Amino acid sequence: MFADKDISKFNNIETPFYYYDTDLLQKTLRSCADAAKPYHFHIHYALKANFNSVLLAHIKTIGFGADCVSAGEVRRAVEVGFDHKKIVFAGVGKSDKEINEALDLDIFCFNVESIQELEVLNDLARAKGKTAQVAIRINPNVDAHTHHNITTGLDENKFGINSWDLPECAEMLRICSNLEFIGIHFHIGSQITNLDVYKNLCIRVNEFSAWFEDRGFNVKVLNVGGGLGIDYYNPDHQIPDFEAYFEIFNNFLEVKPNQEVHFELGRALVGQSASLITKALYIKKGKKKNFVVLDAGMTELMRPALYQAYHKIENLSQSKIVNPKSSIVKYDIVGPICESTDCFGKEVEQPETFRGDIFAIRSTGAYGEVMASKYNLRDEIRAVYSTEM
Ligand code: LLP
Repeated sequence: MFADKDISKFNNIETPFYYYDTDLLQKTLRSCADAAKPYHFHIHYALKANFNSVLLAHIKTIGFGADCVSAGEVRRAVEVGFDHKKIVFAGVGKSDKEINEALDLDIFCFNVESIQELEVLNDLARAKGKTAQVAIRINPNVDAHTHHNITTGLDENKFGINSWDLPECAEMLRICSNLEFIGIHFHIGSQITNLDVYKNLCIRVNEFSAWFEDRGFNVKVLNVGGGLGIDYYNPDHQIPDFEAYFEIFNNFLEVKPNQEVHFELGRALVGQSASLITKALYIKKGKKKNFVVLDAGMTELMRPALYQAYHKIENLSQSKIVNPKSSIVKYDIVGPICESTDCFGKEVEQPETFRGDIFAIRSTGAYGEVMASKYNLRDEIRAVYSTEM
């Protein structure tokens, strides 16, 4: 991702900024599309991972649909040109205003997360003289073995309808004449690196699909969500193993000839395609600790502060210099925000660092720019694209 020529160009750009490698993005999208094709799997990109319009334009062009969790995301998907018949609206707390907006845009499907939401959606659709297609999000109680803050498919999580509520859900579906049931939806968590977890999900999906079919419902769509992780420890493993991932679903999911399998991938598609480029403002050497204070902080990249997430940090200015005398120093690499959690890494071994050194915080294409905040009234983070350089 970082040839020497890039570094010299970075020197002339005001930091901090997100650097997007759109060639890598293209390769990643193509690899996913090629791996899904033999199985006729449908991919919806989860906009929550990154709703940057430049990225979305690439994702739309490859033919993927859009998985949205707010009216804002639905609007963005439409603006960028996603086919409205490939837009799904998910989320545990859709407001009436948001539902109305999505109904007006005639999106493909609402992934419904509670019995009460079915009633509300039915009423709002009836008021417009429309029929909304719905998939029921089921909480399958499958452990994703990922960070507890990004686990979504366990009984204690707020997402989806629990198995014991399904009989009531089925009754509600029968009386909601402005809803058309089209399938079932699952999402058990994010940054999943142990693919065996998906075998367990498939087994549960098969059970729930049979449950609905046994009660006379036609399950056309099996939406298995997203969650495929990326290698944060080795960002040079740029493209996730989509083939191994899809093969699991091909092997373990029981798909009938009339059924479609849908995926909602976010991180795996965009995660490795960006780095947060930031500059060392100050070096503080202490008796117990050395600090590098960067000009980017938790306001630009929240993941380390929020989930203690690891991102590889590279000093681009020093790492390319072959200097046998250069010493390795342990630094706490921190941001400028007035919070102790504003730290990207503790005791990180780095070449000796100097004011003005340029750093890349790697693997920040997903849940990076989109989770930025204005806290401390920080300037809005900018984006720079490889095609501009
Ligand atoms: N579908 C649903 C219903 C979801 O809730 C999510 C992510 C996805 C799909 C996409 O998951 P992905 O393929 O990107 O793992 N901010 C956290 C991640 C939160 C994920 C939320 N849901 C992070 O920075 O790790």
